[in-house]
Amino acid sequence: MELARIDLPEDLTGLQILDIGCSDGFFCFECEKRGAARVVGIEDFTSTPRNYGLSGFNIASGILGSSAKLITDSVYRLSPEEVGTFDMVLFLNTLYHLKHPLLALERIGSVLEPNGVMLLKTYFHQDLRLKRWGLDLTKRPMMRFFPHDELNRDSSNWWAPNRRCLEDMLRATGFSELVRLGTWGDRIYYRCARAA
Ligand SMILES: C[S@@+](CC[C@H](N)C(=O)[O-])C[C@H]1O[C@@H](n2cnc3c(N)ncnc32)[C@H](O)[C@@H]1O
Repeated sequence: MELARIDLPEDLTGLQILDIGCSDGFFCFECEKRGAARVVGIEDFTSTPRNYGLSGFNIASGILGSSAKLITDSVYRLSPEEVGTFDMVLFLNTLYHLKHPLLALERIGSVLEPNGVMLLKTYFHQDLRLKRWGLDLTKRPMMRFFPHDELNRDSSNWWAPNRRCLEDMLRATGFSELVRLGTWGDRIYYRCARAA
């Protein structure tokens, strides 16, 4: 199940958690249920054409009596001065929706505690391996660009990095400790942290 695939700890007691692209807040509410002391979701509801997340978040929040906070803004404007810092960031299924993925990773790094953890799930480009002809694209960091709606007929999809590119982008933005949790279909999962 998805919560196991992202490796969300059962016990989040006392932690401060930020959910990027939180949509209707499913993961925010789950973190609260697992004991997180402070949960913040950030969502740019203008970025996806069919996003019903705002009403979903508010309705679910009311029913659950949640104190998770929703910030309606872009990940690009995250700063510790505005939102504080967090022990854990959830960055799930959002990276490939971003025009500026490196900027987003830098902004996320700026609000993560030095020993904090980012749980990442994203769509990724799966490489062609034609080793017989010496063509092994897995060694080259590459991102596929979707200028229109080529990926799933969704014009809010911009980039699909291959695995090598994704890991290089993470390292280039300070996430030098990467644990690949696995793949599921066309998604890849990581636990990311900075060097100790
Ligand atoms: C595919 S949904 C993922 C929702 C949820 N995280 C999940 O895994 O189910 C991607 C979300 O990212 C949001 N998003 C896109 N660009 C964003 C940005 N610049 N800042 C914050 N959120 C953004 C979209 O509005 C959308 O709700």
